[in-house]
Amino acid sequence: MTRLVGLDVGTSSVKGVVIDGGGAVVDAAEAGYALSLPRPGWVEQDPEDWWRAAEAVLDRLGASRADAIGLTGQMHGLVALDAAGRPLRPAILWNDGRAGDQCAAVEERIGLQRLVEVTGNRPQPGFTAPKLLWMREHEPELYRRIAQVLLPKDYVRLRLCGERATDVADASGTLLLDLASRRWSAEVVDALELDAGWLAPVHEAPEVVATAFGGVPVVAGAGDQAAGALGVGVLAEAGPASVVLGTSGVVLMPCQRPVHDPDALLHAFCHAAPGVWHVMGVMLSAAGALGWVRRATGAAPFATLLAEAASWPPGVDGLLFAPSLSGERLPHADPDARGAFVGAALGHDRGALARAVLEGVAFGLREALELVERAVPVGALCRVSGGGARSDLWLEILASALGRELEVRSDTAGAAYGAALLAGVGAGVWAGPAEAVDACVRVARTVEPRADWAAAYQETLPRFGALTATLREARATTGPADRRGARPRTWRTAGRDVFRPRPGDG
Ligand code: XUL
Repeated sequence: MTRLVGLDVGTSSVKGVVIDGGGAVVDAAEAGYALSLPRPGWVEQDPEDWWRAAEAVLDRLGASRADAIGLTGQMHGLVALDAAGRPLRPAILWNDGRAGDQCAAVEERIGLQRLVEVTGNRPQPGFTAPKLLWMREHEPELYRRIAQVLLPKDYVRLRLCGERATDVADASGTLLLDLASRRWSAEVVDALELDAGWLAPVHEAPEVVATAFGGVPVVAGAGDQAAGALGVGVLAEAGPASVVLGTSGVVLMPCQRPVHDPDALLHAFCHAAPGVWHVMGVMLSAAGALGWVRRATGAAPFATLLAEAASWPPGVDGLLFAPSLSGERLPHADPDARGAFVGAALGHDRGALARAVLEGVAFGLREALELVERAVPVGALCRVSGGGARSDLWLEILASALGRELEVRSDTAGAAYGAALLAGVGAGVWAGPAEAVDACVRVARTVEPRADWAAAYQETLPRFGALTATLREARATTGPADRRGARPRTWRTAGRDVFRPRPGDG
């Protein structure tokens, strides 16, 4: 029997799946680890935790007997290694907000317009390049010892295969890739005075780049959003969009040429198939926000919390939640953004808080979808994946907020499934990613918007938009002391302000 392994080095765990030659999931395993939050806005992990978890999962799945292995993982993480290949410090993750000042510095050196032309993207604190600049400024001793810079799944590849390699999709999230040529950008690397020798060779996602266990082929793989989209069959222009309810929330749409959003609020990245790109809107807290409210209210089981949430009507009697718990990329690129509940009343209970979180994330994804639609054509349906897609309540809320029918697969293997498909392409089981999708990806069910909920959400959406704008204003006077009075940064793209400063801000 054909055995293809997909391994996802995620934010909360390593998840692995084995699929057969027909795309059926025949085995799965998971091993978790913790996040480290050393300061407000900082999010780190020990790369060795990923490797220990990956070893355990690969062992449980019998990966040494696989036909091929595909890797995927959380994107953007900075893994800085010394000459011996040892991590110099904990990895700085995708949702870490410390590099806000370095984003401004990157913009100043290259010019936002030029940066967007070359890379497709504006600097985001979670992206790899601004975090390297942060290290140069704040940890010069460690910075001087950098010999290699890897992304999270590529660190696991180094440990597994002894090879340095990355893929175009994950590399897009470093801010160092030339989007059109799908190669490292010498222009950006030089302008930031980084060392091109630190970067791993970059490959298309299905290419075999190394071997493990003395001969099992390992393909380049892809960053988790590209692999996850492939895993739900989102590869074609104007087809369904991929919507992810993972730790982060994402709306992703493929395109046949490199398209960038003129305001660069969306990311423009390479997809996990040669000749395909994608745009995507990312909110940093989605299912992560539900996990947060669960922990903060006594750690009830998710099923209990969701049952309590289901007893509240749409709109939660005026309770509204802004989900930016660890800064935000959309609709404002703002590392200092924080979450909030507004409209709380004496009658609101734990279930009300939970429902407001589910709705707030759905509203954020609606804003992301609207931005994506401005950039590329979007089909009538969305394919949903990620841990949050296990909740029927959340799916109904999301369908109603997006005003679109949602399609869901039978399993929630997500990005690991996409990585297993890429492994199959590398092993020659399918001719390419599109053929793998045709052969394997089946939709199990659809979720329709509920007319009464959709009508309620149409009324709430403008309040949600106003809330995120108001929170930016409020932070300048009531936020943490070190940020108080700090003016919200104004991003200027294509001649227009994306953030409007307050009157009197100058
Ligand atoms: C994508 C992003 C997140 C991470 C975490 O740009 O930052 O989705 O990949 O999974």
